Amino acid sequence: MTSILITGGAGFIGSHTALVLLEAGHSLVVLDNFANSSPESLRRLLELAGPDAEARLTVATGDIRIRDDLERAFAAAPAGQPIEAVIHFAGLKAVGESVQHPLRYWDVNLGGSRQLLAAMQAQGCRTLVFSSSATLYGMPEQVPIPETAPIRPINPYGHSKAAVEQLLDDLSASEAGWRIARLRYFNPVGAHPSGRIGEDPRGIPNNLFPFVSQVAVGRRERLQVFGGDWPTADGSGVRDYIHVMDLAEGHRAALDTLLSEEPQLLTLNLGSGQGHSVLEVVAAFASASGCPVPYELVARRPGDAASSVADPALAAQRLGCRTRRGLAEMCRDGWAWQSANPNGYGTANPLEGGG
Ligand SMILES: NC(=O)c1ccc[n+]([C@@H]2O[C@H](COP(=O)([O-])OP(=O)(O)OC[C@H]3O[C@@H](n4cnc5c(N)ncnc54)[C@H](O)[C@@H]3O)[C@@H](O)[C@H]2O)c1
Repeated sequence: MTSILITGGAGFIGSHTALVLLEAGHSLVVLDNFANSSPESLRRLLELAGPDAEARLTVATGDIRIRDDLERAFAAAPAGQPIEAVIHFAGLKAVGESVQHPLRYWDVNLGGSRQLLAAMQAQGCRTLVFSSSATLYGMPEQVPIPETAPIRPINPYGHSKAAVEQLLDDLSASEAGWRIARLRYFNPVGAHPSGRIGEDPRGIPNNLFPFVSQVAVGRRERLQVFGGDWPTADGSGVRDYIHVMDLAEGHRAALDTLLSEEPQLLTLNLGSGQGHSVLEVVAAFASASGCPVPYELVARRPGDAASSVADPALAAQRLGCRTRRGLAEMCRDGWAWQSANPNGYGTANPLEGGG
């Protein structure tokens, strides 16, 4: 059993990863300020993890930018089991918002990461899994995209992630003993198959999948498809989607790899290696949900690429695991979540017995 600090553990990817780690027997401290999540996700993942899990999950409400909050989170580990590793999900992730509020993005994503790393150093904890993003690759020249592709982000969100990656490079070069995995996610989608936890974006979703599922459930009228004239099979943009449970299992594998090997800096793509077009996703979601997904084709958005798909070979080799769930399961599980929780965690009924 390992004691792990998870920043942003109440969020979409964090909650699914926390569940996988609890099921693997680890002890967790979740540090989250609930800026983009609800404590309800933690209550529900505990239900899913079974009766003995509650004693292994501590919630520290706080902000990664505040040193005292970080110290409190490290101190919340069970007696005799200091935090051995950190999985760092906390951050802001909306590309459009980052263009409007760059200071906020640099503050939380870079400033928060810097503060966290300083706290880790002070605590003698040098094992970190960091949530990076395929956004770093900007407009890719080569698809599938290998980890060696140039880092050329084209928005403040991507710049802030690239800056943290650079900081991690500098840190691991400055001092022996750091074990760091920079995981570059492609497009995480879907939900736990129970439909009890899932993605609960505030306001208008930025990403295709939550938008499509909100159209299917009747919360939004129709989807706008940006560009029907891309050089792809059906003219709509192609992306690499990864089921959030595959992503969560990838974090467990990354942590196991870091803890069992010599100190290192690992940089890995986490994607399925399969591209799906927007129109394919619309059709698959309509079929999984049995609900129509009306859409209209509109002009391309500046900054979008025709196709972005991971080369997942290095991750498969270094982590010894591959993604297992395809588009049909992503849609099935995403729909299980959306249809049972049409307004996300906001619909939680406090009187509901079994959660
Ligand atoms: N979801 C994606 O499409 C995607 C793709 C690539 C990378 N990522 C990265 O993965 C990470 C997790 O993404 P997610 O989709 O789960 O997002 P999310 O918004 O659901 O989760 C982030 C969590 O961090 C918390 N948080 C935000 N600012 C904080 C702060 N200052 N202090 C403490 N907690 C704070 C939020 O309340 C939330 O619970 C992010 O770093 C994101 O940039 C996400």
